[in-house]
Amino acid sequence: MAHPTTSAAAQTDAFATDVYGGLTQSPQKTLPSKYLYDAVGSALFEVITHLPEYGLTRADERLIKQHVPDVLAALGRVDTVVELGSGNGRKTRWVLEACAQRQPCTYYPIEISATALAQCSQALSDIVGVKVRGIEREYLPGLQQMVSLRQGDAPMLVLFLGSTIGNFPRPEAQRFLAEVRKVMRPGDGLLLGTDLVKPKQALVDAYDDPLGVTAAFNLNLLVRMNSELGANFDLRRFQHEARFNVDTSAIEMHIRSCVQQSVHIPGAGLTVEFQAGETIWTEISRKYLAADVLAMGAWAGFTSAGQWLDEDWPFAETLLVAA
Ligand code: AVI
Repeated sequence: MAHPTTSAAAQTDAFATDVYGGLTQSPQKTLPSKYLYDAVGSALFEVITHLPEYGLTRADERLIKQHVPDVLAALGRVDTVVELGSGNGRKTRWVLEACAQRQPCTYYPIEISATALAQCSQALSDIVGVKVRGIEREYLPGLQQMVSLRQGDAPMLVLFLGSTIGNFPRPEAQRFLAEVRKVMRPGDGLLLGTDLVKPKQALVDAYDDPLGVTAAFNLNLLVRMNSELGANFDLRRFQHEARFNVDTSAIEMHIRSCVQQSVHIPGAGLTVEFQAGETIWTEISRKYLAADVLAMGAWAGFTSAGQWLDEDWPFAETLLVAA
């Protein structure tokens, strides 16, 4: 069955529209965090996951490696694994290898980036007993497409790892979980990785590392506007900033204008004025309490079949089962 994918021209139009909408917002200019992940941004994010200050990915991987047998024991005969986002396959390998030891299974990574899908398929194609079927779509339409192809009555396991849910504001995160629940059958599982609250300095260091990789990841948004929309951002006149917002329990990434300046973005039909010190808010990364995750799951229609916490880097892996 053919499904629409987005052409490069349509992607540029969507970027221009979002840049216009976000940079004309007052008083706080914003840009959607999904634009952080072009080829350069995705490569920089991969480097971030190896930084000593960014313990999140290693904690997620440790928990998955250790508890995947518990997850599979709780769900029973899983023959379908779906992942929201495809990552680089490192964490998913533990799940798929454990699944395939019990019975053959099909893995559906859902991802809007064709490049990321291809990389993930290549990285995981060597696992005996696993068929990889990438779906190049947004998470929810991809999940709906996948379930329309579903055969048999074995439970499906949906993976939403790496605390990507933290990049949604809280109400949206809840709504998203409820939407995911709607396309699942009772007995299906959702393995949800969430970064937990920790001392403020550890969080700020994780999002403002001394090597400057996260700064480059963030400022790459300006590079994208220069190359894709013909903008004239001078990167030396902007700075990366990571703040912890105690009220929302979230790290916020911003791009701060060091001086008063105006920037032309012809591709978005826009000239933007910046005051010295004014920022563009580019990402939210919410940090949860373990109990919050259970409450959010219950609200969305799940029961909890297990929650495992990392001892070195506060992080929770929660198995939610569709009620
Ligand atoms: C992908 N996401 C869970 C990362 C996070 O920690 O919120 C993205 C990131 N932003 C800065 N560093 C990493």
